[in-house]
Amino acid sequence: MTTDPDPQHSRERTHRDVVSFVRRSTRMRPNQRSAWEAHRGHLVLDVDRRETSTSVHPGARLDLATAYGREAPLIVEIGPGTGESLVPMAAARPDADLLVFEVYQPAIAQILAAVVRAGLTNVRVVEANAAEGLEHLLEPASVEELWTFFPDPWPKARHHKRRLVSTAFADLAARRLRPGGLWRLATDWEDYAEQMRSVLDAHPDFVNEAGQGYATRWADRPVTRFERRGLDRDRTIRDLTYRRVQSRGPESASG
Ligand SMILES: C[S@@+](CC[C@H](N)C(=O)[O-])C[C@H]1O[C@@H](n2cnc3c(N)ncnc32)[C@H](O)[C@@H]1O
Repeated sequence: MTTDPDPQHSRERTHRDVVSFVRRSTRMRPNQRSAWEAHRGHLVLDVDRRETSTSVHPGARLDLATAYGREAPLIVEIGPGTGESLVPMAAARPDADLLVFEVYQPAIAQILAAVVRAGLTNVRVVEANAAEGLEHLLEPASVEELWTFFPDPWPKARHHKRRLVSTAFADLAARRLRPGGLWRLATDWEDYAEQMRSVLDAHPDFVNEAGQGYATRWADRPVTRFERRGLDRDRTIRDLTYRRVQSRGPESASG
């Protein structure tokens, strides 16, 4: 084991965790810019940051009841992109509040435009790394459903460590989902689907709703550009649904 003699350096290093995205330009087309300027004030929730614009400060807090003007079951989507599936699914769930974590600002601008066009009042966006958002902004057992559709696949072996769905992330997801809550996932990358299965089938806090296999395609999930692209390339689309259960093992996390 090596120790870092410089605590400051050590502290900075932990702030540069491996993340599931690359920093991309925040440049927007004129229609994205005008949607961003017009709607970010009431649809994008401000959070305290650490040093980067997609980080979340460990002391940051969100007042969801104020943000939505009500208390309702909470659905969290990670990485909705431009909101192609988010917006129709939020429209279909007026009983629930949708909180989305997305790191790509031009995509968020498109979500804002689509949310306003559809007249939805139950969607709010946090421009942040979902891992930090889940960790610092949400209470234990506060999430009814977690959605992760077509997460960035990071196909090269040396990049697999960037994949969002890992045992460490599953531990966090388990802490934020209420017992009985669902984690719904989809991917068109077979080896990522297998990774999701092996992480989640082995996890003591999750049970595979499909028993030993993949879920049937969730009919409520609209086909997005990413799913179409997978289909065009003859990839099999895998849906997965896991239920958060009361801990089955000694290592189950709480809090
Ligand atoms: C491949 S796209 C899928 C978009 C959408 N879910 C769909 O099915 O059309 C993945 C999205 O996840 C976002 N993303 C990746 N890692 C993220 C993270 N850690 N937190 C929040 N968003 C993330 C990316 O910016 C991108 O918009």
